[in-house]
Amino acid sequence: MERLITELAVGNFSARGDLSGSGDQIDAIVAGLNMLAEDLASGEASRRRAEQLNELNVRLDAGRARMEAVLHQLPAVVWTVGRHDEITELYGSGVARFTAHPEPNVLQELLGNGPEGEALVRGHRAAAKGETQRLDVERGEHVWSVSVEPLPGGGCVGVAVDVTETRAEAARREHAQKLESLGVLAGGIAHDFNNLLVGILGNASVLVGAPELKVETRRTLQQIETAAKRASELTRQLLAYSGKGRFLIRSHDLSAVVSEMLDLLRMSVAKTARLSTHFDGDLLPVEADVTQLRQVVMNLITNASDAVEGMSDGRIEIRTGTVGLSDHELVADETLDELPGGDYVYVAIRDNGRGMTPAQQRRMFEPFFSTKAPGRGLGMAAVLGIVRGHSGALLVDSAPDAGTEVRVLLPVADAPLHDPDASFPNQIGSASDRVLVVDDEELVRDVARRVLESAGYTVHTAVDGVEAMEVWSRRPDRYRLVILDMTMPRMGGAETYEAMAAEQPDVLVLLTSGYNEQDATNRFAGSGPAAFLPKPWTADELLGQVAELLRPEDD
Ligand SMILES: Nc1ncnc2c1ncn2[C@@H]1O[C@H](COP(=O)(O)OP(=O)(O)OP(=O)(O)O)[C@@H](O)[C@H]1O
Ligand SMILES: [Mg+2]
Repeated sequence: MERLITELAVGNFSARGDLSGSGDQIDAIVAGLNMLAEDLASGEASRRRAEQLNELNVRLDAGRARMEAVLHQLPAVVWTVGRHDEITELYGSGVARFTAHPEPNVLQELLGNGPEGEALVRGHRAAAKGETQRLDVERGEHVWSVSVEPLPGGGCVGVAVDVTETRAEAARREHAQKLESLGVLAGGIAHDFNNLLVGILGNASVLVGAPELKVETRRTLQQIETAAKRASELTRQLLAYSGKGRFLIRSHDLSAVVSEMLDLLRMSVAKTARLSTHFDGDLLPVEADVTQLRQVVMNLITNASDAVEGMSDGRIEIRTGTVGLSDHELVADETLDELPGGDYVYVAIRDNGRGMTPAQQRRMFEPFFSTKAPGRGLGMAAVLGIVRGHSGALLVDSAPDAGTEVRVLLPVADAPLHDPDASFPNQIGSASDRVLVVDDEELVRDVARRVLESAGYTVHTAVDGVEAMEVWSRRPDRYRLVILDMTMPRMGGAETYEAMAAEQPDVLVLLTSGYNEQDATNRFAGSGPAAFLPKPWTADELLGQVAELLRPEDD
């Protein structure tokens, strides 16, 4: 009996015994049965454990499937590689574009056998030794940034991200920044240059008029004048490029502005080229500086003319009109500024000349980029500066040998059209007309004095606002006009003007600066100075402006 119980207790269910025993044996049977019951219970527990394990496995599989689905959606490519270069996992939405083989099994199939593939394999070798690797890989038009890192327990994990757009965006931004800092530099140089040119041009034009000059001397002087004018033309382009050249904003009819230039334009185009025009007579006005608009048209016409040079059937067309553009369409413009969609007035200049390659087109607005001659290449840079300054856009359409169209878009203004004052004054000053010239540049003061005195005015000068206030405050009513430079040490033009206006609100001030009128007049609240004269001015411009301001009331 005891033996049976022992056998059963150890799980030998085939053991049998007989029932011929005592009470002790009953106790032993009970004990054996208890053990048996326990054994059965633990069997049940392990069955349940197996079930739980199974359930966990199912959940794990579902989790893994979800994770894989997510990984496949990644805008990248992710792979793992085992010890023998076998690809163990491959995920990401970029797989089809990135891998050389549609279903790569080994590393070599990931990027093929070319130099890129070899570089990648080398990268994995180094990563397997514990060094994280980063490399750029070009696949067709796309650039991928790849990083490979060691995996714990051997092998590596690689990640490739398509950075084509990000890189292009960064390049665009860098380009825009480069142009901007060039603009600041150009503006600074042009500003200082202008003061010097006032000296050269002004002195030359005073001298040229002297009656006692020998023919030879006059010719030399005229050459100085011509050279200085060319230099001032260059500074004008530089200033325009830097966005510092915006002087007199009025509303204008673009068709009228361009058609008034036609004679000049005809003279500037190549003799063999035919110039045709289509002017829209119903344009809404644009707010612009007319001198700068002319500069834009002139620069574009010169380029068109250069492009058709040597052709027997060269054609240049100037067109004006209105277009409604969506924000989306404006994204294509070359000015890189964000512009709101809406109605734009445009002037387009089209030629059938040699056109541009995409590479030339990308660089055409860079200062000093020219396919013509060294030292040139400011034309389009100036156009860009001016158009930006007018919150406009530029659309360029060009292909090699198929010609070029450049379209300048300007926003429609809400102000009424400015009636240009046609009658130019032809007055000569009288000695009782006292003019106070305030400028920190001796050269400029000197030329202004000589020009104005030669026209009959009485001239006083001051080197800055402080000195000007000393002279002027003694007898404010003595001066009919104050010519004020904008930037001066100690006390600048704006401050001086305000100090004067506080004492005598109707003080007549002609502001002059190498910078733009916008910068200058922004500093004046309410009514500012009577007029603005951009530097460098010529003797005629100075006299014209002064005479106009001092014109008798009844004129
Ligand atoms: N209408 C056009 N047709 C073909 N190429 C053009 C045209 N307009 C501009 N380009 C290209 O863009 C370059 C830059 O033009 P941009 O007007 O700035 O300088 P430029 O004409 O060479 O010299 P600059 O205008 O200073 O005398 C030109 O050299 C030319 O290669
Ligand atoms: Mg040009």
